[in-house]
Amino acid sequence: MNYSDKTILITGASSGIGAATAIELARFNNRLIITARRESLLEKIAGEIRAAGSEALAICGDATLESHGKEVVQQIIKTYGDIDIAILNVGIGPPSNTLTASPDKIKFCLEANYYSFVHFFCPLIDRMKQQSRPCMIAHMNSQATWFGIPMQGDYTAAKAAARIFLDTARMELRHFGYRHIRLQTIHPGFVDTEAVRDDGIPAPNEISEQEAAGYVLKGLKKEMRENIFPPATKWATKLGKIIPHRILTKILLSQTPKAY
Ligand SMILES: NC(=O)c1ccc[n+]([C@@H]2O[C@H](COP(=O)([O-])OP(=O)(O)OC[C@H]3O[C@@H](n4cnc5c(N)ncnc54)[C@H](OP(=O)(O)O)[C@@H]3O)[C@@H](O)[C@H]2O)c1
Repeated sequence: MNYSDKTILITGASSGIGAATAIELARFNNRLIITARRESLLEKIAGEIRAAGSEALAICGDATLESHGKEVVQQIIKTYGDIDIAILNVGIGPPSNTLTASPDKIKFCLEANYYSFVHFFCPLIDRMKQQSRPCMIAHMNSQATWFGIPMQGDYTAAKAAARIFLDTARMELRHFGYRHIRLQTIHPGFVDTEAVRDDGIPAPNEISEQEAAGYVLKGLKKEMRENIFPPATKWATKLGKIIPHRILTKILLSQTPKAY
């Protein structure tokens, strides 16, 4: 999908991959709506978007609240009408231990990674079904979505839930005749963002935020169903899916610290 002169929503755009993607898309005369909780950071990114020649609308809020997703989508419709692209990027993945995590911690991870996506997906799909020109919802998933990974149990479970939900929605869009709506899942490998820099989780083949943004734009352009990057991590993950489970376990545990 062409990404110039478009109305584009990016959630979680105050920092990291979301902010870098917004800044990259700002070079193409777009109308960018960006969301997150940290107002000053969000306004800073909005300023960078305007300086690069696009329109920016910054909306602060907590994506774990259903009302936030609804209000953002309503405001975009009121201001710009149709929505062309939505990149649902909100997510967190602090180290976690399935043997010691409390139910509250696990629920919070699901809210931040799964419901933060659902709260936008539902009002977006309602609107997009009424639109006629091609449009797209892309979800920022992870390569930690196909199998359990030590230190990331709650996170991998939440991302896997979102992936399977979108796989089903894609089939149902086709079944019910909404062929103009594309759904994409984005699977970055390790990206050097402030959120993960000192989290103690091993990060082989790590790329920069700007490199990640470049891959995100490429995926939008090619309308990929799954945008998996960078190549080195993509092939390691593909291998992980087919090797015997005991070998996968051995490899993953060899990278896992003893205490967390
Ligand atoms: N970095 C990696 O290695 C990596 C790898 C694979 C996938 N990912 C995924 O990429 C996405 C971005 O991660 P990142 O590394 O760029 O981290 P980041 O810089 O912390 O970005 C997360 C964004 O989400 C926002 N956010 C978090 N919780 C929110 C909430 N409850 N409501 C509204 N906004 C919220 C944050 O803004 P506020 O704090 O201002 O609200 C921030 O803008 C996540 O979905 C992550 O799972 C990252």
